[in-house]
Parts: sequence; C-alpha cells; structure tokens
Amino acid sequence: LRPIHRLLSRAGTVAADVRREEQSSGSVETGSEDRTPKKKFSEVQKERREQAKRTVLIHCPNKISEKKFLKYLSQHGPINNHFFYESFGLYAVVEFCQQESVASLQSVTRTPSMDTEAAIPFRSRFFNLRLKSPSNQPSEQPHAQCSSQSSPSSKKLFELLCDAESIDDQLNTLLKEFQLTEENTRLRYLTCSLIEDIAGAYFPDCTVRPFGSSVNSFGKLGCDLDMFLDLDEIGKFSAHKTSGNFLMEFQVKNVPSERIATQKILSVIGECLDHFGPGCVGVQKILNARCPLVRFSHQASGFQCDLTTNNRIALKSSELLYIYGALDSRVRALVFSIRCWARAHSLTSSIPGAWITNFSLTIMVIFFLQRRSPPILPTLDYLKTLADAEDKCIIEGHNCTFIRDLNRIKPSGNTETLELLLKEFFEYFGNFAFNKNSINIRQGREQNKPESSPLHIQNPFETSLNISKNVSQSQLQKFVDLARESAWILQQQDQDRPSPSSHQPWGLATLLLPSVANSLCLAKKKKKKPASERIKNLLESIKSSSAENSTDTNGK
Ligand code: CTP
Ligand code: MG
Repeated sequence: LRPIHRLLSRAGTVAADVRREEQSSGSVETGSEDRTPKKKFSEVQKERREQAKRTVLIHCPNKISEKKFLKYLSQHGPINNHFFYESFGLYAVVEFCQQESVASLQSVTRTPSMDTEAAIPFRSRFFNLRLKSPSNQPSEQPHAQCSSQSSPSSKKLFELLCDAESIDDQLNTLLKEFQLTEENTRLRYLTCSLIEDIAGAYFPDCTVRPFGSSVNSFGKLGCDLDMFLDLDEIGKFSAHKTSGNFLMEFQVKNVPSERIATQKILSVIGECLDHFGPGCVGVQKILNARCPLVRFSHQASGFQCDLTTNNRIALKSSELLYIYGALDSRVRALVFSIRCWARAHSLTSSIPGAWITNFSLTIMVIFFLQRRSPPILPTLDYLKTLADAEDKCIIEGHNCTFIRDLNRIKPSGNTETLELLLKEFFEYFGNFAFNKNSINIRQGREQNKPESSPLHIQNPFETSLNISKNVSQSQLQKFVDLARESAWILQQQDQDRPSPSSHQPWGLATLLLPSVANSLCLAKKKKKKPASERIKNLLESIKSSSAENSTDTNGK
C-alpha cells in the first residue's frame, strides 16, 4: 500500500502533467492547475468568524463517550461540527448550527463554587464539563478520538521525506505535514472570538481578527496567533446614523497621540485578560515596542498570542500574502520548505533577536518568484493596476490598494519544477548583492539600499520601513553561507542520488537535518568559531533586539 501522502502528491503530478500537455497544445494560456473559483480573503474571514461565534470550547473529563457527550449538548440545538484534542487535558470544540444554542448552554451553566479559593464569575464560551458520578460512565464505551494539533516529529518527517519519489514530492509532503489543519484553523478563529468576548466587556462591538501566519496561508502548526483588536467598526456604525442638520458625537477622553491611545487601550485589555480571562496566562504588556502589544498564552488552545491594535496595515499584508499563496501552488510549498530549512539551521528562532524572521523569508521567496522568467508571481505594483474602485484602500496615508479578487489575476505561464526553484533560490540568494541592493516586492526588482542595514527588505506598504532591520551582518552571512552550501549539496546529488531503497537521506531531507548534512563531508568544513567571536555575535544580537523594541523594526 502506498502512503496516502504519496497518492495525493501523485495526483498533483498528474495535474501538472495535464497542464503541461494543455499548454503545449495551446488550449490553455497559463500554468493554473485549479480552476475552481478561489474565495476572497474577506469572504474567508467573514465565514470563519461567523462560524467561531457559534462555537464553544469545553474542557472534558479524560474518559468521555463521544456519543453521550453529543447527545447531551444537542439539547441546546443541532451541532454542525465538533472535534476533540489534547492539551494538558481533553478539550472539545463544538460548533452549533445556531448562535442561540450557545446562549441556551450558558443559561444552564453554573459558576463553580470553590473550597479554598474564590471564583471570578465571568461567563464565557469556555466551559468545564464534569461527570455527576464518574463511576456511571462504563469504561467499554468508545472514547473520543483526538485530532492532533502539532506537526510531525523530525523522525517521522525524515521518514516521509526519504520515502518520497522526487524532490517536488518532498516539498509537497512537507507542506502537507506542516500546514495548519482545518481543526487548528477553527481553533485559532475560536480563540480570537473568545478574546473578543473579553475585550467586548470594555468595547462592545469590537472585533478581534487573526492576522499574520494564522491566516496568510503560510502558517505552520505551532505558530503564534497574531490578533488585531479592531475598534474602527464601532466608529463606522455611528457615521451612518446621522441625518438632518446636526452631527452627534460621543463625549470622549482625548490623549496626546494615537500611540498613547493604543497603549491605554491595550493596557486595560491586558489587565482584563490577566484578571478575568479564563485560560489566559502569562500576560505581558509590551507597550513600548514600535507596535505596542499584549502577549499571553491561551492555555487551553496552547497558542502563544500577540494582541495588537491600530495595526491595520499588518492585516493588509496578511491579505496580500494570502493572495500570493493562492496564486500558484508552488509558492506555499517553496515557502514552507525554506522556512523549515531556516528553522533547522537556527537561522530563525521563536525568540526575537538579530535573526531573519519568517515574514522576511516569505517576502524573499515572493521576490525570487517575481524574478523568474517568465515570472511566477506578479509585482505588487501590477496587482495595484488591476484594482477597481472598491479595492481602493489608504491606511494612515499609505496606499494599500491591490486587487482582492484573485480569480481576476492571470496565472503564470512558468512551468519550472519545485526542485529547480529550490536550487535556484539558494543560488540566487547565495550570490545576492545584499551590500548594495534592497529587496522590493512592490516593483519586483532590486533597488539601491536606502540605508546601511545589512539586510534591507522594503515593507510593501510602509515603504520607508525595512522589515529586516533587526538582522545583523553575522546572521545574514550565516544565511548566505548556508544557502550556498545547500545549493552545492543539491548540485552534488544531481549526479549521485542514493537509491530510494537505501533509506539514505536525500534531497530536501539532507538540507533539513543538520546532523546529516554535517556527516556528508562537505567541501567547506566549518571550524567552530573562537569563543570571542561567538560572544561578539551574541552581544550583537542582544543589542539589535533591544534596539528593535524601541525602534521601528518588527511590526510589533
Ligand atoms: N509584520 C510586519 N512587519 C514586520 C513584522 C511583521 O508588517 N517587520 C506583520 C506581517 O503582516 C506579519 C505579521 O505582522 O505576517 C505577524 O508577524 P509575525 O508573527 O512576526 O510573523 P508571521 O508572518 O505571523 O510568521 P510566524 O509564523 O513566524 O509567526
Ligand atoms: Mg505570527
């Protein structure tokens, strides 16, 4: 029996073959393999948010009969969808068909009485289910099946990659194993919706929207959850209601700047999450960053959350990346592999510092794909020319206009394989003139660097900002060295690929596993750097990370 992932990726190969044939016969003009209309980012957001509002999160006893559980909850209305997962206990995500069911469930729910502690009576959509008499639950009942919320172990990934049939197959396998699952996506929207309820205690009608990798289609299982507290909708409602000669305004408190307003709002929401937010722990208010934020951990979902407000441009960049990710199936596969490659070699880290971020890597891949001949991705300026009046969007004076209906963007005629693109990516950036050029996806070509940061990647919308200002020269050099080394490994293997039956690592597997890569006796044998140099690098990264908090680097 073939593993299912192979069957799936073979199906992809067949689709690509059909496409090539169609192209050579001239019946199709471009390289799109999927003709089903794709949803607009705003449509996806709307559907998911609406779904999340009808959904509840329930902490369950460990041994629970799924059937009885569903029967019990159905008293409040029909259930549309549910799943269980484990995260220091068993949890269920239950989506009702109607929102009224949630209120009905809440109306029969009690606040627990504590023996030694006191409960803060906050009524949310996060519940705790207890068995009235645990012994009544017969143990032979089939227990709930859990959906996994984490990516495969390195061992499993290694096996999958070694079993793949081609490098293209390896990249697609990696994407399939690491991308967010349907359940994980639901859990992300639900978590935002639960936080929205808490923020709604202060600002009724506010919206908490996920952004960043949770929604831009480049999210890896386990990535953080970036949230945007949107208070603008509140203002909009009142704008419509005015008529006649008068204009009614709310009496409000004024503060000296937008930034101070943001800090005050986040400060109070941070307090609220800390004191009343069920399952919100480790709340940190990081209000002096360029983009002030509240960081906390949502225990039940296991997400590390970053809540910001007044950060609408980041939401727009998430939409742009979503479009780029959906335009061609090679984009996500390549980005995931490059992100995993960077993580495997500690080029990226979950701790902020002088290293390259996933966001920067994604923009670098997009830029590289714009530079292919013919281009695989269009420039942002081109997407702007396709925009119609409804797409027009100016945020804080920045023109963020681009076409939002991705079905109207002509797919690329480029048919290069992922294997070739991976190799060429490493070669391209292994030889890029980082000392004089800046990466610019708006124009899709190198620009002269406007300032002296080692790595300059122009923010697509706030064009005076460099999204990789935090990156030190030594981290950039490490990226370049590894890119060259990886290009070299792939080139060597072209001539001498181990047979699949030998179970030797090959292709992407050699690039991802540092220990394996080391044992390959690379031409460049690296000596460990002297301690003085390592300490210098460390100091450099600490310096840039503290600069990052006070200046304009990280969008946070
Ligand atoms: N962002 C930005 N400028 C930066 C950093 C971030 O505009 N210098 C925006 C981007 O839209 C990014 C989002 O903030 O997608 C979230 O940032 P971050 O969590 O760092 O990146 P993600 O894309 O979410 O990637 P990851 O999976 O590493 O979290
Ligand atoms: Mg993120």
